[in-house]
Amino acid sequence: MGLLGRAVVTVLPLMPRFMVGWVSRRYHAGEDLSSAVKTMRRLEGEGACFTIDVLGEEITTMEEATFFVEEYGRVLEAIIDTGIDANLSLKPTAFGLLIDPTIAEGSIEKLVRKAAGNDIFVRLDMEDHRVTQPTIDLVARMHDRGLSNIGTVLQGRLHRTLGDIEKISEILGSAADHRICKGIYLEPENIAFTGRSDITSATNQAIDAALDCGAYVGIASHDTNIVKHSLTALEDRGMGPGIPDPRELAGPQRPGKGPGYEFQMLLGVRGDIRRRLAKQGHRTRVYLPYGSKWYEYGVRRLRENPDVAWHITKALFFPWSNRR
Ligand code: FDA
Repeated sequence: MGLLGRAVVTVLPLMPRFMVGWVSRRYHAGEDLSSAVKTMRRLEGEGACFTIDVLGEEITTMEEATFFVEEYGRVLEAIIDTGIDANLSLKPTAFGLLIDPTIAEGSIEKLVRKAAGNDIFVRLDMEDHRVTQPTIDLVARMHDRGLSNIGTVLQGRLHRTLGDIEKISEILGSAADHRICKGIYLEPENIAFTGRSDITSATNQAIDAALDCGAYVGIASHDTNIVKHSLTALEDRGMGPGIPDPRELAGPQRPGKGPGYEFQMLLGVRGDIRRRLAKQGHRTRVYLPYGSKWYEYGVRRLRENPDVAWHITKALFFPWSNRR
């Protein structure tokens, strides 16, 4: 990020809320479920499928979890009613994983059961290192109870990730289903890579390892290095659009899934790459957040954006270019 970009990031908290809202609207689908459905209907035309995230993170009292349990229930109903090709992404700490893990697990299990009855997959987003092991364990216990429509996210930046891929494979076999990304949390250097190129190459290694274990792999990155690496890795393993998954260790293709892999991108980020991949026939999934907590999410995405100054200028002066 250049000097101007860094200066813009510094003054972001001082920007009026409506202005942040206007610029960051590309990153979320609106405040309510009906806006999310509208956005998905529009993006379906670009060959995308979806994973829906109700905005909000770690809660501080168990009462707050009720909102997420009910809202995700409504999301499931909407997916079933509309027939939109979508699954769920949820954050375990929003269900109370760090306050009352038993209740949190019970609430998540209810959603996963309902989703299973309708061939809908549930992804547990991965949060910071405090919950890495509890999240992986939760997924394993769900599988143990016969719920195989759940998986989590493994973060390339964590030193433990290659080991986690191996261990999860030993437990879940071909039912292992990972989203692999760099990891958004700035973790300490005793447990994580901290340099940009180290994180990128560790993420590429994690993608390779997950492919080699026969796991289903959601490649979640907008980084052209990672997308290019993944395309080569897929080709090397004889995988690609329209080709039945040739890996010996892989299971049969599941409903709502690609042939062993898919590409995943955040709403509003590098739509050009996503549309190109979709045109080539790859399954592409948009991570689609919605909800009243859009401000915090929008600011985080703007902070991450290397061209933040240009994007703000463009959104304000050429609003039609502020595309989701
Ligand atoms: P990188 O940050 O290098 O971005 C590559 C390029 O993308 C940039 O050069 C720029 O062109 C563009 N870009 C990136 N961010 C932008 C922005 N905000 N606005 C405009 N352009 C932008 N993390 C985590 O810890 N747990 C999780 O569960 C998830 N889940 C998840 C799901 C999905 C579908 C995605 C795509 C990502 C996640 N992440 C995540 C976040 C992930 O770990 C990572 O922080 C971001 O994807 C950024 O990393 P990239 O690989 O995209 O590279």
